Amino acid sequence: MAKILVTGGCGYIGSHTLVDLVENGYDVISVDDNSRSTSAILKGVEKITGKPIKNYKVDLCNFDDTFAIFEENRDIKGIIHFAAFKAVGESVEKPLMYFENNLTSLINLLKCVQEFKTPWFVFSSSCTVYGEPDTPVVTEESPLKPAASPYGATKQMGEQILTEFQKANNTNVILLRYFNPVGAHPSALIGELPIGKPQNLVPAITQTAIGKLPKMTVFGDDYPTRDGSNVRDYIHVSDIAHAHTLAIKYLEEEKNKSKLEIFNLGTGNGVTVLEAIKSFEKVSGVKLNYEIGPRRPGDIIAIYANNDKAKNVLGWEPKRSLDEMMATAWKWEQRLKNDEHFFSSIQSELN
Ligand code: WQD
Repeated sequence: MAKILVTGGCGYIGSHTLVDLVENGYDVISVDDNSRSTSAILKGVEKITGKPIKNYKVDLCNFDDTFAIFEENRDIKGIIHFAAFKAVGESVEKPLMYFENNLTSLINLLKCVQEFKTPWFVFSSSCTVYGEPDTPVVTEESPLKPAASPYGATKQMGEQILTEFQKANNTNVILLRYFNPVGAHPSALIGELPIGKPQNLVPAITQTAIGKLPKMTVFGDDYPTRDGSNVRDYIHVSDIAHAHTLAIKYLEEEKNKSKLEIFNLGTGNGVTVLEAIKSFEKVSGVKLNYEIGPRRPGDIIAIYANNDKAKNVLGWEPKRSLDEMMATAWKWEQRLKNDEHFFSSIQSELN
């Protein structure tokens, strides 16, 4: 089967996608400089799949090192590009670092795609490109509003770069706009590894429940929503991963109608922060220690996906429920706590 290069393969969505690709018969290699991840996570991928995974520890901002990977692997048919900085708050404090890293790495990759005529390119985009939508449910045709952060701006610019690139090249491009990826592989062998205090909701919940954080704050319950807290479309990371395999398959079978196609990856269900907490308490049996605090700057009120296109065109069907998202996230957090050896091995590389 075709060889796929997964950038950011040691990361959260990247590692889950490696699992899904291998389970569907693809030959995979990873490139990840481990600046925000650890190669120890690949041990989990190998345990799940039974296959060794090669990772090139390369910074994609270094063109020569990136080019060398393609020279060594001239049979790469597809690229799934996850590697990027993704912390919204950090991007506000350090915009140049975000523009330089996220855009230089993409442009270097595309220079190699041009040179080696790589036919398929799948880009990790985000619902953040929609900004604050006019209506909470968005389709791929919904207008893009000004990004709420430099992180979001790099996703919008990445989509623009790819739009112009594919017009001048024969590469087939797919943009996947994730909503809120949460949860972990049911084996608890791979999962999310936030660095420092978690910014995202679900790791904040599980770290509070396990006692790593004394309490968590719900950032506002005075929004115009059914219970006053923000609405998001939480989607299990394994469902997100499988969509990438389907996207590659779709290009491999030359079913794409145009050379650039866009898909929303969400469940289509809007869930409030307080409802997410209730689901966690139900599946974990833990009463969560949280307080209602002030709104977080940059948060949008509500957004969730119209996912008809991914369902009808890619044949994608999100399978995991909100309860399963919370249960797998909790199982992963408990594993991090109980498996000191594993935790210390990843911490040494993450710090
Ligand atoms: C979700 C909701 C918070 C933490 C961002 C990016 C997106 C994607 C996921 C990067 C919000 C509330 C959170 C907490 C809280 N990409 N919350 N207390 O902001 O929707 O999306 O991360 O990974 O591109 O934009 O995700 O998980 O940060 O917040 O109340 O301690 O949970 O206010 O309403 P967000 P999030």
